[in-house]
Amino acid sequence: MKSNLQVAIDGPASAGKSTVAKKVAHLLDYVYCDTGAMYRAVTWAALQQKVPLDNDAALKELLTNLKIVFKPADDGQKVFVDGEDVTAAIRMPEISKNVSLVAAQISVREALTKKQQELALDGGIVMDGRDIGTTVLPDAEVKIFLVASVKERALRRFREDQAKGIKVDLSELEKEIALRDKKDSTRLISPLVQAKDAIKVDTTSLTIEQVVAKIMEIIKKNN
Ligand code: CDP
Ligand code: CDP
Repeated sequence: MKSNLQVAIDGPASAGKSTVAKKVAHLLDYVYCDTGAMYRAVTWAALQQKVPLDNDAALKELLTNLKIVFKPADDGQKVFVDGEDVTAAIRMPEISKNVSLVAAQISVREALTKKQQELALDGGIVMDGRDIGTTVLPDAEVKIFLVASVKERALRRFREDQAKGIKVDLSELEKEIALRDKKDSTRLISPLVQAKDAIKVDTTSLTIEQVVAKIMEIIKKNN
């Protein structure tokens, strides 16, 4: 197998992208890049600095001065914005509710896409998001499109929030996930769509280990 592949993992919210991408990166000894965390970090900073979330010019200005840094940690990675550890803060429901609006702004997409492409230049990377196989890394050697039913994805998020002590309503989560899917799939720039050469993996009734095994098999078979 080649040693410096680009592996793109796309799909809707809670399909299992980051959990699985992290494990695949670990098995291959590759870098892992969670692009959703970048959009979340920008959303966090915009809310902090009271920048209107649909104001492209104001977000562009915010981005020119913003420093987003990822640092590997035992349980994945830590995210810092201008030196502040925002790893937990960017997962809060307030960010999940607002991130799709920020992610639809052209200057935000341009700036983050450029950063992601720079990170992937030398290969040896597993990157997860919504538009990695279509826009960020169109020549990636491996493209996976992870899906799962809305019900299953809401349940996964519910369990995750409960474990963090966050009080949530399952039907509310279902609605939020369906709405975010819709916003992400219908936006004008880099919408969430399966790349023509991506392999679809339905994770609805698969365990994390089964999904990881499936992806490793796809990577080894084709490279
Ligand atoms: O973890 P979850 O699936 O909830 O979402 P995420 O991967 O953290 O991404 C959060 C949001 O960022 C998504 O709903 C998209 O609106 C946006 N995003 C994007 O537009 N493009 C990407 N490559 C990654 C995330
Ligand atoms: O990154 P994305 O939003 O696609 O999903 P994730 O954050 O990796 O996964 C959401 C939750 O689903 C996590 O708590 C995972 O442990 C869980 N999960 C699962 O139960 N079964 C899978 N096959 C994949 C993920």
